[in-house]
Amino acid sequence: MTQQHVPALVIGNWKMNGSLATNAALLESLRGDIASFGNVHVSVCPPFPYLAQSAALLAKSPISCTAQNLCHEAIGAYTGEVSASMLADIGCRYVLAGHSERRGLFGDSSERVAAKTRQALNAGLIPIVCVGETLAQREIGLTEATLAAQLLPTLAGLSASDLEKLILAYEPVWAIGTGHVATAEQITTVLHYLRKLVADKTGATKVAQSMRILYGGSVNAANASWLADLPEVSGVLVGGASLKAEDFSEICRSFGQR
Ligand code: PGA
Repeated sequence: MTQQHVPALVIGNWKMNGSLATNAALLESLRGDIASFGNVHVSVCPPFPYLAQSAALLAKSPISCTAQNLCHEAIGAYTGEVSASMLADIGCRYVLAGHSERRGLFGDSSERVAAKTRQALNAGLIPIVCVGETLAQREIGLTEATLAAQLLPTLAGLSASDLEKLILAYEPVWAIGTGHVATAEQITTVLHYLRKLVADKTGATKVAQSMRILYGGSVNAANASWLADLPEVSGVLVGGASLKAEDFSEICRSFGQR
């Protein structure tokens, strides 16, 4: 089923980059370009200390804020953590759960990603659950098994109405920050598989068909136009290129004008 009847979602994941001054310049530039974007939802994903700054600077614009991570618990003695309700309070609309850097570098298990997804939904945030295989897993034919293992704990904890809010992001680990974007065929094959997995495991066939699935991994201003032409792709999660205002605006235009 085509995803092109709903506006695409383009999210700029700044990761651990930025400062008050560079963020302000980047957002100023994006706000100036909004009129050229077309029909697209744009969101930026700053580090925690800058969410309030971004939310304030974007308050009168259609660009929303996404958080990069959240705590798997709701409140209490979790030093160094940030809760879903705090993110909602500060004006975030979306939150990432299970980005491959969280899974790989910080030990976020798939069960923990499921708990984070639950917290996000409880607080009224839209969770974007990231999944993706490593090159080694792909090469030995474990792509589907890896994605299933990453997603099943999350799916197990969701009601039908939760599922309608969920967004997935397919980010092959080998494509993140490497310049090696996945091919159209690789992306399409995996997105079909993810829809089938969600349908088979939840029984919610219609929701699985229409759920938003983003692609992420070396998206840039040059490849955004063919990515935007893939009917299965509901939008993109952009890392490095989201720090360059002109490139990110070009990606937004590619998806806004598809
Ligand atoms: P990249 O990162 O665009 O720099 O490859 C994508 C991501 O990690 O979300």
